[in-house]
Amino acid sequence: TRILGIEGTAWNLSAAVVDEDDVISEVTETYQPDTGGIHPREASQHHAKYASTVIQKLLENIKSKGIDPKTLDAVAFSQGPGLGPCLRTVATAARMLSLTLDIPIIGVNHCIAHIEVGKWKTPAKDPVVLYVSGANSQVLAYRKGKYRVFGETLDVGIGNALDKFARSAGLNHPGGPRIEKHAENFKKYVPLPYVVKGMDFSFSGLTTAARDALEYEAMEDVCYSFQETAFAMMVEVTERALAHTGKNEVLLAGGVGANMRLRDMLDIMSNDRGASFYVPEKRFMGDNGAMIAYLGLLMYRSGSITGLKDSHVDPNFRPDSVEVTWI
Ligand code: ATP
Ligand code: FE2
Repeated sequence: TRILGIEGTAWNLSAAVVDEDDVISEVTETYQPDTGGIHPREASQHHAKYASTVIQKLLENIKSKGIDPKTLDAVAFSQGPGLGPCLRTVATAARMLSLTLDIPIIGVNHCIAHIEVGKWKTPAKDPVVLYVSGANSQVLAYRKGKYRVFGETLDVGIGNALDKFARSAGLNHPGGPRIEKHAENFKKYVPLPYVVKGMDFSFSGLTTAARDALEYEAMEDVCYSFQETAFAMMVEVTERALAHTGKNEVLLAGGVGANMRLRDMLDIMSNDRGASFYVPEKRFMGDNGAMIAYLGLLMYRSGSITGLKDSHVDPNFRPDSVEVTWI
């Protein structure tokens, strides 16, 4: 089975073709905002501008490997969650491909794509997942036909919180990796608000307090303390989801998963509980076309085809609304 997948929920436009074994080819064009964060309309204009080049390049690549695009089994695309204008641009490109190649269209949930691609190349079978990216922060696990959300952020995603704090500290976008670097040279922990309510957590109070702390504390110390506090909140909820579900695997997914301190904290927690901890390969951590193609492949093989008439996008597409047909 060979599936073409297109991702473009936010700043990354990426298309890939995968089969059961691996990624056959992937082409990516990243939108770089001049200043500040992502402007949804600018990002969607970027995607519209590059969609045909990216797809053409991808089709050339697979042709040069002897694969006729007409023999692809389906085209998959990110149906949500994400920025509305970006989602619509990508959906339009996917519909065009579906029509011109005369192959079915499959709308996939972006969060679940992160999870499934994370499981693909690791031994993880049935993990508790901590999914951490710019706009999303969730603890999920499979139960009775769905990926259930056990806990999640009550306001912004951890990545956006890190990026926002970084901006107020005068660091460039994306802030996450820069905060991680500064945190390495910390001298002391600065107390910041730790907010876990039930199984949910919140980052906006922490972000404001960290910004204020910059006035009288060293940048390195505030960066370190921001990470320690925010990550501990999410690790606590992940641990409680492990205990609650009785599962014995933990999987980290999403762009913030690149952070070494977060990995360490999850690894320590998992070891303490006798659980195995897994991190996907770097190429699968941030938003990428391969993860969309791969979930499309799982759905295609289990008979979940979306069809053009149901291919509308959903900026708030919840992972726990998806019927999991492939497990
Ligand atoms: P989504 O659409 O799923 O919300 P996204 O478009 O924001 O995702 P990702 O690539 O999943 O994209 O994540 C990007 C985020 O990851 C940014 O907020 C960035 O600051 C953060 N990030 C990247 N590397 C690190 C790191 N080493 N430590 C902390 N955060 C990081
Ligand atoms: Fe993502």
